[in-house]
Amino acid sequence: MIDTHIHIDEEAYAMDREEVIARQREAGVEAMIVPGVNAKSIEGILDVCQKHKGYCFPALGFHPQDVFPDDYKEQWRIIEEAIRLHSEEIVAIGEIGLDYHYDTTYKEGQQEIFQRQLDLAQELDLPVMIHNRDATEDTLRILKSQIAKAPLRGVVHCFNGSKEVAKQILEMGLYLGIGGVLTFKNCKLFETLEVVPLERIVLETDGPYLAPTPHRGERNESRLMIFVVQRLAEIYHITPEEVISITSSNAKKLFFV
Ligand code: NI
Repeated sequence: MIDTHIHIDEEAYAMDREEVIARQREAGVEAMIVPGVNAKSIEGILDVCQKHKGYCFPALGFHPQDVFPDDYKEQWRIIEEAIRLHSEEIVAIGEIGLDYHYDTTYKEGQQEIFQRQLDLAQELDLPVMIHNRDATEDTLRILKSQIAKAPLRGVVHCFNGSKEVAKQILEMGLYLGIGGVLTFKNCKLFETLEVVPLERIVLETDGPYLAPTPHRGERNESRLMIFVVQRLAEIYHITPEEVISITSSNAKKLFFV
């Protein structure tokens, strides 16, 4: 299993980060990708990925929820510089995107930063990790106009949308990141997956958040993706081993080539 999205640098893992990483290795997790969210997160991400080189892979980016009018230009200057400086070492630009869930007062700034990061990804030929919450229409519109300019590789992380939205994302050549939400009671995502080939899915936790059932509410860890794998095996009528093999090969194709 490859965890394409875990915030292992964050405070939630501060007390026992080394043990957590060791546990994932023992449980058969092959690799983790650690996404950036703001300027402050850069150093910690690069540190943990340096320490676990070849196992933890860094991504750097500017998360829409960290875009604030008073300092976003300065933060972006720092993040862009770090992305360029570490462009050989990072496996993606992320996480980036739009989030209108809590705050819609600064849509313009979020869109500007999203756009700049997409431009940079195309310039540096890096994949992107896209975050979209309550902003599907704008996210799809921006992605489509971006892809009209030049090829773009990437994943829509923590995907939980409709068939219609999934189809549009697949048409753009992007992957879907699937995690714990798939195992939640009342989650309708399994219906959406009817139109999604497994060849376009990568696994993720979004840890420390969104631990799958039966660990819902606990701190998430990459090894718990096995519950997502089991659910995918049921949905696609194949074995868990096949799910692991296909999703790992997808992740390698997207991030490690
Ligand atoms: Ni995340």
